[in-house]
Amino acid sequence: MKIAFYDTKPYDRVWFDRLAPEYGFSIRYIESHIHPDNCILAADCDAVCVFVNDRVDQTVIDRLYDLGVRAILLRCSGYNNVDYKSAFEKIHVLRVPAYSPYAVAEYSCALLLSVNRKTHRAYSRTRDYNFSINGLIGADLHGKTAGVVGLGKIGRIMAGILSGFGMHVIAYDPYPPKDSGFELVGLDQIWTRSDVITLHCPLTPETTHIVNRQSLSMMKDAVLLINSSRGALIDTGALIEAVVNRKVGGVGLDVYEEEDDYFFEDRSNDILEDEELVRLMSFPNVLVTSHQAFFTAEAMEAIARTTLQNLSMLKNNAFLENEICYRCGKEGVCDRENKRENCF
Ligand code: NAI
Repeated sequence: MKIAFYDTKPYDRVWFDRLAPEYGFSIRYIESHIHPDNCILAADCDAVCVFVNDRVDQTVIDRLYDLGVRAILLRCSGYNNVDYKSAFEKIHVLRVPAYSPYAVAEYSCALLLSVNRKTHRAYSRTRDYNFSINGLIGADLHGKTAGVVGLGKIGRIMAGILSGFGMHVIAYDPYPPKDSGFELVGLDQIWTRSDVITLHCPLTPETTHIVNRQSLSMMKDAVLLINSSRGALIDTGALIEAVVNRKVGGVGLDVYEEEDDYFFEDRSNDILEDEELVRLMSFPNVLVTSHQAFFTAEAMEAIARTTLQNLSMLKNNAFLENEICYRCGKEGVCDRENKRENCF
């Protein structure tokens, strides 16, 4: 089988080139994002492979279907960028549900520690032989309250790490895991009680702008906010206001609402047109990174292997356990426990 691999970066090829021969697949690498005009590059392919900022809308799906493409392989876990309803009964949408939740949780923690203790600023200072520590004061995390929104694979690991610091962890999840050992609370309590708030829920219509003017106004002064999940969980305009008003003490963002045109790309020679992004990055207490929380060797290898396995299962007419289907289960993910057959 042949895969048209969109939005290719050099680091993708390291693992996919190594593993694809094991599965007998060949790959056509394409540097640009997928869009209606370049679907044709997948003309003789059985599958396309896409990443977080490839927008796979109805037009793209219809074109791929007309070209005979049978699978959309997401080499990520989030699938908010795919119109999977339009794909139903046409093209299978397969994702990598977990590759290294540790990578994302550990990185979220790194963001928190940097934002709290200002190591990102200390690094620039000492490189310039400025050894002053004025303005770099942080706070002990020990004894403080951390609010985790979304207690799934990543959220649970993050909650465990924060507990290790001696933080009291409270969590909100509409479908909480059984016996997580963490105090489950309503969303309002997350906003009002937390010194640190860390977002680990998927982007859905319910979670879009879950951090907004109203929720920000309920938060403690100087709250630290971490988002390594999806940018649109936060209303950026409201966040900027909250930073300006000193409501928020520090922000660590690995994702950004309008990241598609910027993240993963070298735009250092360009004039950035996104004024909200530029404004955010102008604040000393806001640290923005370019969607790299997943980026460890272990995660990259697991992503490549699961992506190729997903296609292999389709090739062998096996049950597609990583399929996204809107008809059953919550948020498009099939309730697989009772299912043995594919949805179409
Ligand atoms: P998961 O599916 O294991 O956990 C998500 C949890 O969120 C579930 O327990 C679910 O019940 C909960 N949830 C659903 N709706 C909610 C709501 N309205 N409010 C609060 N919680 C809600 O997913 P996992 O693996 O923990 O990933 C979480 C998110 O992290 C993904 O959706 C993805 O957007 C993001 N991510 C970011 C990466 C990065 O490199 N920055 C890499 C991997 C994932």
